[in-house]
Amino acid sequence: MLSTKMEEALNNQIALEGYASFLYLSMASWCDTEGLDGASRFMHRQSQEELSHMMRIFHYISEVDGHPITPSVNQPPLKFESVRAMLQQVYEHEQKVTNSIHKLVALANGESDFTTLHFLQWYIDEQREEEALMRSILDRVKLIGEGPQSLYYIDKELERINEVEEAAEAAEAE
Ligand code: FEO
Repeated sequence: MLSTKMEEALNNQIALEGYASFLYLSMASWCDTEGLDGASRFMHRQSQEELSHMMRIFHYISEVDGHPITPSVNQPPLKFESVRAMLQQVYEHEQKVTNSIHKLVALANGESDFTTLHFLQWYIDEQREEEALMRSILDRVKLIGEGPQSLYYIDKELERINEVEEAAEAAEAE
């Protein structure tokens, strides 16, 4: 059984993950309009991932007899200054999510809610991986630099990451 405070905090996390999914979907759409197919596919994948993060919490709240709240949709930005600025924004959003997960962990700990504490462990690992991935992408983007020709290489790099991640998922599914 969740405390009212914990239920509210988990519902806020649902909204944060949901917004991330919509923000990344908007980024995928912008990349597509810019002709950046690899980047668009990458952001579509990230958007789907965030949706699954949202649903994982949604189902958890139900499972422990709480009431998951379907969040309202806030309009994400439609355009981005550059691919590098967009990726930086993703990284910053992930840091915000990590911070929020850590606050949830502290709350669960304070309430001795060991079931939620255990449930949140997955998110701690996931956030560590997501932040590391975004940092490594930003490092490579900085190395490649910006400008019309660099965009081609950034897009190729993101497509390469799509392929690596898809291969890893396929191997996991076997
Ligand atoms: Fe679910 Fe990437 O935060």
